[in-house]
Amino acid sequence: MESSWLETRWARPFYLAFVFCLALGLLQAIKLYLRRQRLLRDLRPFPAPPTHWFYGHQKLLQDGKMEKLEELVEKYPCAFPCWVGPFQAFFYIYDPDYAKTFLSRTDPKSKYPCKVWLPCLGKGLVSLDGPKWFQHRCLLTPGYSVNILKSYVEVMAHSVNMMLGKWEKICGTQDTIVEVFEHINLMALDILMKCAFNRETNCQINSHCDLYVKSTFEASKIIFYRLYSFLRHHNILFNFSPEGHCLQETSQMLHQHTEKAIQDRKKALEEEKRQDNTQKRKHQDFLDVVLSVQAENRDSFSDTDLRSEVNTFLLAGQDTMPGGISWLLYHLALNPEHQERCREEIRSILGDGSSITWDQLDEMSYTTMCIKESLRLAPPVPSISRELSKPITFPDGLSLPAGITVVLSIWGLHHNPAIWEKPKVFDPLRFSQENSDQRHSHSFLPFSAGPRNCVGQHFAMAELKVAIALILLRFKVTPDPTRPLVFLSQVILKPKNGVHLHLKKLS
Ligand code: HEM
Repeated sequence: MESSWLETRWARPFYLAFVFCLALGLLQAIKLYLRRQRLLRDLRPFPAPPTHWFYGHQKLLQDGKMEKLEELVEKYPCAFPCWVGPFQAFFYIYDPDYAKTFLSRTDPKSKYPCKVWLPCLGKGLVSLDGPKWFQHRCLLTPGYSVNILKSYVEVMAHSVNMMLGKWEKICGTQDTIVEVFEHINLMALDILMKCAFNRETNCQINSHCDLYVKSTFEASKIIFYRLYSFLRHHNILFNFSPEGHCLQETSQMLHQHTEKAIQDRKKALEEEKRQDNTQKRKHQDFLDVVLSVQAENRDSFSDTDLRSEVNTFLLAGQDTMPGGISWLLYHLALNPEHQERCREEIRSILGDGSSITWDQLDEMSYTTMCIKESLRLAPPVPSISRELSKPITFPDGLSLPAGITVVLSIWGLHHNPAIWEKPKVFDPLRFSQENSDQRHSHSFLPFSAGPRNCVGQHFAMAELKVAIALILLRFKVTPDPTRPLVFLSQVILKPKNGVHLHLKKLS
């Protein structure tokens, strides 16, 4: 009798492999089915917008359209579950009481964004969790203290003035439209490089020549591209893509650069010690601080930790500051009466702006209110997320089990009409002492709150004040009505088509 094809020697391994794959596929399908059922059960108590069985709510929030989110915030008080595909759901919250409960805990960061950042940043404050995060946070907090920051004000002013010099050349005496985001981006990087390494990159003048500067921008672009490209989520698929290759090379370049800066500084410090050179550098930079942390904690703070923290300082600052300053300038351009009040206040404190000190920044009360209102309307970090490590019960008694990813939508919170009257209107007086005292402590969270709040927030506020003060002393800004600002909501808020403003030099 003729044997069936299954019994031939060559076919058997294929047959077994096929059965094995089928079993694996089936197991995976059962796992996904159970996961969906569990999520459906856990999220049932919370009303949700109508959902497509396969896409979920992906189409609703996909384009980063903030108006859609604002509609949902209005319709669903406190929170709503958001499905991304049939097997993945996030729980969006934007109510101050919910935010307070959520931020008082130390749940770990959501895995996915951290995985994407890891090749560039390494494990620094932004991506660490648990006892190691706590140790680093305690050790590094002095590096962000007021005493260190005071000496950065001069560095910041120098970089802002360099940018203004460029603007003066571009504009001459004419009213000229300038895409300011690119300039502010380079200026913010210039400041960070000097505060981190005491390094003069000249990046504002010659951005294309510095390999490190180019790599920083390139890495940032690829990271965000990957975060929002579903097909690039898997490590293997991404690593074999052209962007994956490019990111590997770029990350290597960044690490080498930081490593070299660290080694050079270590050598310089040894040399200073050997020669008993007590003359101090003009300002202590972040690298000095981290090196002294390492010297005192040799066993628990490795060279890799050191490199990761320096990279984290650079990237955390670089991705947020350009947006913060640009949106503020844009809001003041749209609201000339507030722009003029800020300018008057700044003139009364700084005169012609030839020098600027930390104490003077504290006196800028109206300008500070405008900065806060701009951070409310356009928070540079529009949302943060955590994976619940244990169940959570919100103040209204509703609960979620461990394992759910909760997203605190800072944008949603800042545009929540239950907290902010006419949320779209730019009104700095919302932040007068009297009005602030009456509001919930967790209704304004541009820098988050609780144990994992932004460790760089005083740095950020100082840079925002120095930048806006010096810009307003030299330029009048008005909007370009043909090119309104459109936001691209990624992990960090970005402008979709740049920030175009009319600049007019003040005589
Ligand atoms: C306007 C500018 C900035 C905004 C709006 C901002 C906002 C935030 C937010 C919301 C978080 C919490 C992130 C989370 O929980 O997932 C955060 C964390 C952090 N920020 Fe900022 N940030 C700004 C500027 C800076 C600057 C200039 C630096 C450093 C130079 C910095 C360093 C950090 C670090 C290291 C963390 C992690 C802290 C930790 O987890 O312990 N930030 N920032």
